[in-house]
Formats: sequence, structure tokens, C-alpha cells
Amino acid sequence: MTTNTGGPAMTQQRIVRTEIPGPKSRTLHARRSEAVTSAVPSVLPIYVKAAGGGIIVDADGNQLIDLASGVGVSTVGNANPKVVDAVTQQISAFTHTAFFITPYEGYVEVCEKLNTLTPGDHPKRTALFNSGSEAVENAVKVARKATGRQAIVVLEHAYHGRTNLTLAMTAKAAPFKAGFGPLASEIYRVPASYPYRDGLTGEEAAARVISTIEAQIGASEVAGIVVEPIQGEGGFIVPAPGYLTALQAFTRANGILLIADEVQSGSGRTGAWFASEHEEIVPDVMAIGKGIGGGLPLSAVTGRAELMDAVQPGGLGGTYGGNPAACAAALAAIEEVQENGLLEAARKIGETAISRFKAAQELPGSPIGDIRGRGAMIAIELVEPGTKTPAPEIARAAARLCHEQGVLVLVTGTYGNVIRLLPPLVIGHDLFQEGLDVLIEAVSTAAANVTGAA
Ligand SMILES: Cc1ncc(COP(=O)(O)O)c(C=O)c1O
Repeated sequence: MTTNTGGPAMTQQRIVRTEIPGPKSRTLHARRSEAVTSAVPSVLPIYVKAAGGGIIVDADGNQLIDLASGVGVSTVGNANPKVVDAVTQQISAFTHTAFFITPYEGYVEVCEKLNTLTPGDHPKRTALFNSGSEAVENAVKVARKATGRQAIVVLEHAYHGRTNLTLAMTAKAAPFKAGFGPLASEIYRVPASYPYRDGLTGEEAAARVISTIEAQIGASEVAGIVVEPIQGEGGFIVPAPGYLTALQAFTRANGILLIADEVQSGSGRTGAWFASEHEEIVPDVMAIGKGIGGGLPLSAVTGRAELMDAVQPGGLGGTYGGNPAACAAALAAIEEVQENGLLEAARKIGETAISRFKAAQELPGSPIGDIRGRGAMIAIELVEPGTKTPAPEIARAAARLCHEQGVLVLVTGTYGNVIRLLPPLVIGHDLFQEGLDVLIEAVSTAAANVTGAA
């Protein structure tokens, strides 16, 4: 058992006391079904009592290994003591004033930090919001206002959120978009780079995008191209080397803004502060969310000063954006990443997972088609063994087996066949290895069951 940077008192140990979900969780779930709309389901309806380090404790006393971090949010661990202290101090002083009415230092300090931590040493400005979707929406507003153009280019496999504008930008139809039209206009989708499936080099994949824009949209109409430097919900797709740099060169030559949606890939998750660094791009505008708030709702748009300041006063903002408690949490979380070597920890998590997955991939009958990701944002794409045919049933069955054994993993991807890992960066090495043991075994059992039954 490995101890780590803390959180609530609990052993950093997987403990399965009941079936999962257990009786107490099932009772709560029955109550929930009478109160909460079925439009908001849960991947694994265990009802959480506490969480910290790499562990989630449920109502039945089960302790699950957390390989999800609430979709990459609890990067510094749940209830991280530094975050808890900072938030407690802040809410004892004041909880809310609305920054646009009477400002406070925490908001300014978060913006200063983000201006420094994001790629590029040009002058920058930042505005704070509550959710990733809100950050993406505001990045689009900035791009349109600053360029005077309307068209926004997005990629296949993209996920940018569930508000009306971001739904139009999100690629996957079901369950996200079904029945919600009309969606926002002036959004144009172009091919992504998906090396495992398209076999193209970065230059070839970028040329496909550029010719689509020139032929079907017109470069002079385009305000911005929005890219996830690693596509998250699309299946942790890392673009081919050179794809994003070629797109950046095209944007610069045509007065288009390169907008990076780093809501999932940012804030230290990939072993760099932002995944754009791995791709050697310097976005003009960035949307930041999830892990930046240390577990509290906070998001940001950081961009070139002249673009951000092109918006009229009052054009950006909102009641809660940059709430004092969320700012205090963010400052503590940033400090935690810096002082506890969590970028390095993310890189080690990635190395461990990749070497374990590679060994598993070599076993006969393995359904692991592709292993990809960076740092602590790692996935396996599952296929029918010996083919590239997506195998969503194997992914679902493997995830279910993991859940039953107390390991929380998430399934994602355009084809529903990707298992993604987003562990807290403070997870202990042995605990993470144990989670991988369970996952790798579950994948091979699921493949045998599904292909045996076919
Ligand atoms: C890349 C990306 N952009 C935007 C969003 C939307 O963020 P939120 O759910 O906080 O609105 C997400 C959420 O998963 C995301 O992964």
C-alpha cells in the first residue's frame, strides 16, 4: 500500500465489501429515480461518501480505485488538504460579491497564473467562467468579435460541451445532440487526424482540412479553428505529428485564430501544463476548465491581449464566473502541481500504463488495437481481435467487470470502444498498478466472453 498526498482519512486500498453497487447505494438509487431526471444518468451509481488520493469510498464502505477523477477534474486528488484549507479560509472571509460588481484579488491572481502558464510569452488576458462549455462559448465570442468573421471550424470526433453553441461544435450525435435542434449556425466540421484509423501523416491530414476550408467555407470567412490537442470524448486521439503545426501555419497565413480547447487535456493532466506544448503550437485563444479548479467549478479563456480586449466592456462575464472559493481552490491546486512534482507524476503514470498495455497487446487474441495518450490521459482502443473493427461490447463488458471489482474506468470514443484512464496525479504507484491489473484482466476476460459468444 502506498500513501500519498492526502485528502480525507482513508486507507489507499481497494476494498470490495458488497456487490457493487451495494445495498445502500441501490436504496439511494431508487430514491434518486423518483427525484432526478433520467436525462442525467450515472456511469456507476455507487453513492460517494468520501474520496481522496486514488480512492473513492461509497455508502456501503467499498473503496474503489479512481481512474476517472470525475473526468479529469480531481487532478490534485479529492479533498486535497491544500485546496480544502484555501477554500475554507476564503469562504470564512467572503463567499461571493460578483467580480464585475466588486472585484477581489483571487480572480486577478488566477488570471496572472494562467497568463504565465499557457504557451507563448506574448501579452495575454484572461476571463473566468464556471464550466468548460462556457469557456468554449466565450472563446468563440472573442474570436468572432476580434476578427469580425463568423465561421467557426471544428473537427470530426470533437467534444466541446452541451450548451446550444457547443453542441453544434460537438461531433457525436447520440446521446448529445439527438432532438435538440436547431443548433447554432456558422459551425463547419472538417476531418481530424486519427493516425490509427486514417493512416495519414500530420501534413496529409492538415492538407485535407485546408482544402476543405478553401473549397467549402472560404478561409477569409473563418474566425477560428477550434482544436483539442488530444481529443477527449472522441477517444483520446493524439493527432499525427505536424498536424496541428500545419494548421497553425494556415491560420497565421489567413488571419484565422487557432483556438485550443484544453478543457480536458490542460492543467497538468498530460505531464505539461497544457497539451499544446507537446504539439509545439501556441494557440491564440485557449479554453481551460476541469482540473484547473482543484475540484470546484472554474473555467477560463486565456488569449492574446489584443484579441481579449477587442470585446466591449460587459461583453464577457457572468454572475458566478471566477467565484472566490473556486479561485482560492485553483490557486492552491496550481501550487500543489508545482510543489509536489505532479507534472512528473503524470508522465510516470503514462509510462507505467503504456508499458503494461503494450505487454497485454502482445498476448494472443488481445483486443487492444491502439494504445495512445500523453501523461495521465491514456486510453486503449478495443477492436475485434486481428481486425480494426471497433468492439464497443468488449469495452462495455470490460468496464463492467472493472466496476464490479472496485476499479472505476470510463468508456469513450466516437465508436464507444475506447477505455480511458484519467487517474488523479496523486494516486500511489502500487494502487495504480493494481487498477491496471484488474483492467488488463477484465479486457482479456471480456474479449474471450464476447468473441467466444459471437
Ligand atoms: C474538450 C472539452 N471541452 C469542453 C467540455 C465541456 O466542459 P463542461 O462539461 O465543464 O461544460 C469538455 C467536457 O468533457 C471537454 O472534454
